Amino acid sequence: MRTQPNIAIVGATGAVGRECLAILEQRRFPHGVLRALASARSAGSTVNDRGTPRPVEELGQRSFEGIDLAFFAAGADTARAFAPCAVAAGAVVIDKSSAHRADPACPLVIPEINGDLLTPLRARPGVVAVPNCSTIVLLLPLDPLHRAFGIERIVVSTYQAASGAGAAAMAELEEQTRTVLGGGRAEPRVFKEPCAFNVFSHDSAIDGATGSNGEEAKMASETRRIWRDASVRVNATCVRVGVLRGHTESITVTLRRTATEAQVRAALAAGRAIRVLDDRAGNRFPTPLRATGGDEVLVGRVRPDDTQPNGLGYNLLVSGDQLRIGASLTAVKIAERLLGV
Ligand SMILES: NC(=O)c1ccc[n+]([C@@H]2O[C@H](COP(=O)([O-])OP(=O)(O)OC[C@H]3O[C@@H](n4cnc5c(N)ncnc54)[C@H](OP(=O)(O)O)[C@@H]3O)[C@@H](O)[C@H]2O)c1
Repeated sequence: MRTQPNIAIVGATGAVGRECLAILEQRRFPHGVLRALASARSAGSTVNDRGTPRPVEELGQRSFEGIDLAFFAAGADTARAFAPCAVAAGAVVIDKSSAHRADPACPLVIPEINGDLLTPLRARPGVVAVPNCSTIVLLLPLDPLHRAFGIERIVVSTYQAASGAGAAAMAELEEQTRTVLGGGRAEPRVFKEPCAFNVFSHDSAIDGATGSNGEEAKMASETRRIWRDASVRVNATCVRVGVLRGHTESITVTLRRTATEAQVRAALAAGRAIRVLDDRAGNRFPTPLRATGGDEVLVGRVRPDDTQPNGLGYNLLVSGDQLRIGASLTAVKIAERLLGV
């Protein structure tokens, strides 16, 4: 790939696409042409490209001519329909949707954990899948524990922000909050439940046979794939909360080898893209507000789970900005790895 690749952002007007533009600028990602793509609805509008308004073009079969790197942030159907056009035009696709996450031909990558899988894509076009945002916020803090002690089982409950469902969901929460504070009644449109001042089961489809929703299933299958460990068991309960931005997760792990609390803390302190915030005296721990805009998953409430055999069970509470760490930042870090910067 050339040192200043031409890039396309598919879904440039969405919550993830806009954050992607901001991160490319913040990290001074070296690029040539930047093509902002979205649906016909947005054609002719502009997005911010390093302080300059960049016209948005309607996505089409020929949008990828001359493009080296294409960030896809426009949903799974769009990725399935257009990623092959981008690859045929010679681009590497970094797909933030779920379309390619289970495809064995496409590596599923968190650069800090399994960035080694990117090496073949430095030499040829193809698709890299970015994991689900809840999986990334889960695995960045757990990976140092997995490396040091092995993780056999994870029980996790999520507290997921409205923005995880996109720009329209963010707007819905803001609008509902104003309506309710004004004495009105919240009318759900994007979600099936009112989002403001509420907590409700994740909006992905429920499997009638297992009772699990799609988000819960993804957290389990993606964890096994990223860790290349089919034996790890994941029991997830995914819940949406009336928070604008930042996913929080309450996690209990069962280790394969015993560890003291001091050893667990030492492993976390040495972890990548995480920061321990565990102020017991001040009652200051990870929150979505503290995580918002940051590049690290905050980790706190580190303590033994005394319902498990001594030294094997630990609890954590983590928060991460899922628009950044859970999507755009991870995608840009993948691009940096591909480029070798
Ligand atoms: N939000 C998160 O926290 C998060 C985290 C990880 C992964 N993701 C994934 O990232 C993707 C984007 O999510 P988002 O939250 O940014 O959604 P969003 O705010 O709803 O944005 C969707 C973007 O896709 C574009 N788009 C929709 N249909 C299109 C089509 N047929 N052709 C071309 N462009 C189309 C939209 O363009 P218009 O403006 O023209 O409609 C918009 O730019 C999804 O796959 C989502 O699952 C999201």
